[in-house]
Amino acid sequence: MGMLDHWQPVARATDLGRKPLPVVLAGSQIAVFRTASGKLGAVADACPHRRLKLSAGEVIGEKLQCRYHGWTFDACGEGESPGSPKMTTCTKSYDIREEYGLIFVKTRESNPQFPTLDNKDYTHIGTLVHEAPAPLELTMDNFNEIEHSGTVHKNFGYDLDKMHEVKVSFESTDDSIRVMNVGPTKRLPFLDRLFIGVKPGDLFHDDWTTWFSPLHSQFDHWWTSADGSEERKIRWRIFLFYVPVTDTTTRVFSMLYAKSKWPFGGGLRLGRRYIRKQTEAEIMSDVDMLQYLADYEPGIAGLKLSRFDKSLGLTRERIQRVYRGERGNRFGLRIAG
Ligand code: FES
Ligand SMILES: [Fe+2]
Repeated sequence: MGMLDHWQPVARATDLGRKPLPVVLAGSQIAVFRTASGKLGAVADACPHRRLKLSAGEVIGEKLQCRYHGWTFDACGEGESPGSPKMTTCTKSYDIREEYGLIFVKTRESNPQFPTLDNKDYTHIGTLVHEAPAPLELTMDNFNEIEHSGTVHKNFGYDLDKMHEVKVSFESTDDSIRVMNVGPTKRLPFLDRLFIGVKPGDLFHDDWTTWFSPLHSQFDHWWTSADGSEERKIRWRIFLFYVPVTDTTTRVFSMLYAKSKWPFGGGLRLGRRYIRKQTEAEIMSDVDMLQYLADYEPGIAGLKLSRFDKSLGLTRERIQRVYRGERGNRFGLRIAG
């Protein structure tokens, strides 16, 4: 399996209107379009005639028409020329599918499992897209570690002066990594305290699992009383997809869900705008932080890693083996369980 062989999101469904959409997936330029009957298509974003971007064209009926000389292409990449009717061509096309409000793409040749997101009993709050100015591994490091919540985040996590009290545990399989963190919550902003029902001395629970075909995580965030017996009113579930655009930029799709114990819809619909804004700010804080990386070196040899960083090596090994389909040991890792 190579990087383009997994079902990966390239856009939100709402981002694809009547005009074709140019996307870049692991360095490959792809034109995504929706035909008049609603069928989706994804083809290489370079016309085989004279290499104009097909995404600059327009959808006519069931076909994508190149803007330069009007050649047309269907969702399978079969093309024909109006000026030379006997001349037909075929350009590279991709499998494409719409699920969870996202548009997923993969090569025609592969047969991976489609990701299953467990969002049963949760309310969808919003789906956000961010472009992180960092390579894939370094972007995933940021989202797959809680220690930075002491300095970077306001709405969840642990205070820096209590970070040493946080208990961290790991579980891993051949193709997944799970990390569970629990410790005294940081003091949240007033509205969040009210809405979530967090009290002084409460524990914050952060439980996430990452899978590697495609690269995605599920984060569960909730708060309990100090003895863990009573859960507070709101539980967040966030799915993140990490999609390499180039060697130095990574697109992050964040799907935010919540479950509430409040009556009348749990306040989630009413508070949707506020929650989305807060989440947007938190993810922007992560993205902003990544611009200050001293370099783009994805290796971890020589770094002084903390007890929160065990997942970094496990993640790299699985990205290389499961996602990139590479043999060998790109990062010279010594991996234990
Ligand atoms: S470049 Fe596309 S039709 Fe000529
Ligand atoms: Fe973060």
